[in-house]
Amino acid sequence: MNFRAPPWRHQHLLDVAGLAADELARVLELADDMAASLRTRTRRDELAGQRLVTLFSEPSTRTRLSFEVAARALGAEVSHLEPPTSSMVKGESLVDTVRTLAALGADVLVIRHRRGGAPALAARHFPGHVINAGDGTHAHPTQALSDLYTLRRRLARGLSGARVTILGDILHSRVARSNAWSLTTAGAQVTLCGPAEWLPDIATWLPNLAERVAGGASPPAVRVTTDIDTALSEADAVMTLRIQNERLSRTGGSRARASRLGPSPAEYVRRYRLTSQRLALARPDAIVLHPGPVNEGVEITREVSSGPRSVILDQVANGVPVRMAMLALLSAAGAATGSGARD
Ligand code: CP
Repeated sequence: MNFRAPPWRHQHLLDVAGLAADELARVLELADDMAASLRTRTRRDELAGQRLVTLFSEPSTRTRLSFEVAARALGAEVSHLEPPTSSMVKGESLVDTVRTLAALGADVLVIRHRRGGAPALAARHFPGHVINAGDGTHAHPTQALSDLYTLRRRLARGLSGARVTILGDILHSRVARSNAWSLTTAGAQVTLCGPAEWLPDIATWLPNLAERVAGGASPPAVRVTTDIDTALSEADAVMTLRIQNERLSRTGGSRARASRLGPSPAEYVRRYRLTSQRLALARPDAIVLHPGPVNEGVEITREVSSGPRSVILDQVANGVPVRMAMLALLSAAGAATGSGARD
């Protein structure tokens, strides 16, 4: 069965902030179609004859593997460039590496990088499609799309008006930043909760979101609080986050760094770990999400992460059809407009 994707105006997927509500809906609808193909093991060929290369300079299990599964399910060839064994260790720049991959025939580049903005830099030098698989504290667009898909499927009331609480190290989380955009764009009300040191100034963290808040939506599209009881009260969904230990010492100057190290692990556990007792503050049918990887016992107890309200493994599984949808849309954009497609 062949699928003719509708026109898509973006050449790359660098940030979910910038996708409009109708574009998010299109991704989710196409992901439903992809999920049906996966269930029935129907072969698809949207990426037949195309080459996808992954370039991950940070560790990954879910994102890299699900891109590989998704690309193969659409008929693409997949290769992995491993930065530690590539010529990057001999001093080759990211730009030269990207140009080299293009010269070797790569059509799609999936890139994860510790520096925010690295995928955007790659996109300026790559004639095909670049997908950001997570860059520093900036963005993780396909994780946010997978989470949106999971929430749409699992929330009985749907996304519009749903109360979603994101809990933990918000400031250093690219997942939180991308989810704040996609969830509010889809009509959800988002509460960001964590220690004061790890809460962002929305105006600098996500200016477009700040405009949305300043626009006076009622009830507000996004709330920020240090009070976990308030944040959990009446929540339809709770997303816990891993503490981004690898980023705590990199953000800002020395004074800023000291203030952003945040509470000790023991203090964090005491004040913010999601336990069954705390989850009882949320709605009786509230679901629990975590983008992974989970540090059980720190941000969430095993009882909750493996309990009946956890949809954490759904998030993982849904990453495949959602990434298939994104790949098919970008491929169709390339076919429709060539390199003239916008980012
Ligand atoms: N959520 C996420 O990005 O997981 P990985 O680091 O395993 O890809």
